Amino acid sequence: MAGGELKGQKFLVNAGPTYEKIDPVRYIGNYSSGKMGFHIAEVLAEKGAEVTLVSGPVNIKTEHPRIQVLPVLSAKEMNEACLKHYPSCHGAILCAAVADYTPKVKADNKIKSNNPELNLTLKATEDIAQNLGKIKTKTQLLVGFALETDNAIQNAAKKLAKKNLDFIVLNSLENPGAGFGVDTNQVTIIDKNNKAKEFALKSKRQVAEDIVDTVISFSISKST
Ligand code: C5P
Repeated sequence: MAGGELKGQKFLVNAGPTYEKIDPVRYIGNYSSGKMGFHIAEVLAEKGAEVTLVSGPVNIKTEHPRIQVLPVLSAKEMNEACLKHYPSCHGAILCAAVADYTPKVKADNKIKSNNPELNLTLKATEDIAQNLGKIKTKTQLLVGFALETDNAIQNAAKKLAKKNLDFIVLNSLENPGAGFGVDTNQVTIIDKNNKAKEFALKSKRQVAEDIVDTVISFSISKST
């Protein structure tokens, strides 16, 4: 793999789940290993970029000297970290499986488990991608992910427009080798003109290389 194409560029990547506290010992969160985001951060860094990796709670690490990991827990913390760092970056790749809802009230003490029912009121979290889409400048790149179960391409294209993304990476849920926890993924990249490019089932590392190659070709067209 060639290196150096992204020398001097700064990228923001977010990865992993967010945990939304219910009480001191329980949370709401999505399944997410963080692997896709960590691979993307590593490929960006290997090509010369300085990477800020805002990561939810995961069991993986990176030792790359050009990656600064900023650990966060909740969607609120992830939103604040991303809003702080995006303005100084050339682009952001948003792989995190952000929880869409958070408990309206977080209990200070452990909720007793002797009730036959428990009702929690949830409120929507901030949409980080949409927030970054609002402050994006003409030369900045913004890339999101989508995981759809029906009308995948149309739904992903709608999200791309709503969040002001340059392209969106659609994850397949139909392929048993793709998705949560596994080391492989199968993606389709959709751009602003609704042009869809389908990639084969590959290792997450190879998928990260395809995504970063697409980032590089978009960066070139933005700067010319
Ligand atoms: O709307 P949906 O969750 O399907 O969109 C997925 C994309 O939006 C991903 O890039 C994800 O990281 C991002 N997202 C976000 N903040 C949320 C929910 C999703 O940044 N609260």
